[in-house]
Amino acid sequence: NRARLALDPAFRIAPVEPRLFGSFVEHMGRCVYTGIFEPGHPHADADGFRTDVLDLVRELGVTLVRYPGGNFVSNYRWEDGVGPRDQRPTTLDLAWRSIEDNSFGLNEFMAWAAKAGVEPMMALNLGTRGVAEALQLVEYANHPGGTRMSELRRAHGADKPHDIRLWCLGNELDGPWQMGHKTAREYGRLAAETARALNRLDPGLALVACGSSNSSIPTFGAWEAEVLEETYELVDYISLHAYYDPGDGDADSFLASAADMEHMIRSIAATADHTAAKLRSRKRLKLSFDEWNVWYQSRFPGESGLEWARHPRLIEDSYDLTDAVVVGSLLITLLRNADRVGVACQAQLANVIAPIMTEPGGPAWRQTIFHPFALTARHARGQVLRVEPDCSTVRTAKHGEVPVVCATATHDPASGEIALFVVNRDRHRPCVLEVALPRGLVPVEHVELADADPCARNTSAEPERVVPRPGSGLSCQDGAAALTLPPTSWTLVRFA
Ligand code: AHR
Repeated sequence: NRARLALDPAFRIAPVEPRLFGSFVEHMGRCVYTGIFEPGHPHADADGFRTDVLDLVRELGVTLVRYPGGNFVSNYRWEDGVGPRDQRPTTLDLAWRSIEDNSFGLNEFMAWAAKAGVEPMMALNLGTRGVAEALQLVEYANHPGGTRMSELRRAHGADKPHDIRLWCLGNELDGPWQMGHKTAREYGRLAAETARALNRLDPGLALVACGSSNSSIPTFGAWEAEVLEETYELVDYISLHAYYDPGDGDADSFLASAADMEHMIRSIAATADHTAAKLRSRKRLKLSFDEWNVWYQSRFPGESGLEWARHPRLIEDSYDLTDAVVVGSLLITLLRNADRVGVACQAQLANVIAPIMTEPGGPAWRQTIFHPFALTARHARGQVLRVEPDCSTVRTAKHGEVPVVCATATHDPASGEIALFVVNRDRHRPCVLEVALPRGLVPVEHVELADADPCARNTSAEPERVVPRPGSGLSCQDGAAALTLPPTSWTLVRFA
């Protein structure tokens, strides 16, 4: 295979939005308990936060973390997770049939987020609760003091307001599995009234309306159209969620998963723009891709097959090299759409379909998918450039003909550096890539994630089996570079 592309700082799409490198901490399985929080662990700090995990979170480059769910939030009483620990109730989490002791709640999350250096993105329960409870939570979190809920926060030891700016108006309420599932009209009305009330309480919050849970749900597109009719002028984002499952063995389709993400982004942006046209609105709504990842969903028995348990091992997928390449291509796709996607969260952060794995009382390690995320978050700086590879296609059963190469690049005007991120989706053949670049720039770093075994994984016993390694055979002369992309690979080249 051969491919060509040109890098030109004149062709800008949008600035790299730091909120694109978000993650997600849900009260699910071992994401919170024995993931980020494990009092008594040898590496736990005075708050019970695992410092080995905090170090990995910082290395991952996560900028924002969505909390506390997910499906969990739709039956959650946030009040159960604040105040003296010995007075907090033990409750039933109906989403994941788990016993929740509430020893970790809002104030612990905010303390953890400050240590991790991430922006919080909070989700409200609009499943089993409504406008009044949402108002109480925002008053508790954000009002400085002198009122019932703000004084309660202060009595709980959080003297200063948390000042949380980004709020999700519920989670996946289009899905029949969601506690408090609604029709689009029911949800749209509730989201609109909640937004109106929150705006009175704390003007300037950024609000996210729930979009579809996935692109194959029958209401995809129609749900957003109806919800946005009610909420368009009141919210800042509409959400998208997508998980890609390698489980059926169709590896070519799986490697082309980003084609579905691209289709979702374009479809929902078009739906939002159509609403704007009907409403005669000049506002251009942004998208919040606040759950995305690879998930071996076909291996999950479903919520009703679960036994009641305390932080059980749920969907602890072990990722291989191919999964990491797909994650790299999904990040490339988010950047390619940086003019529309303003927030994105890889789901989730620890243990539950996660880049970071832990053992209770034991080590923490990086899964394969950690690496493309960390390198993209570290090196995507400045402006996203329009990059259009000229290449052959791969025929896939699920996504039709898909370009064999998936690429994006960023240009940092401050340093002059260009970072190129590129995936070769061909499972059997390398691809020789020719890159036209501005004169004077030369490669300063070339790393790739590739392996003779596409199923290679990292484990606690062998945590560095799959890591980025220096690429070889990159040549560069007079504004033209050439390199070989291995089969099923993700590559970063930095030019300075
Ligand atoms: O991330 C796991 C689950 O996937 C979330 O709780 C839910 O929002 C989605 O369906």
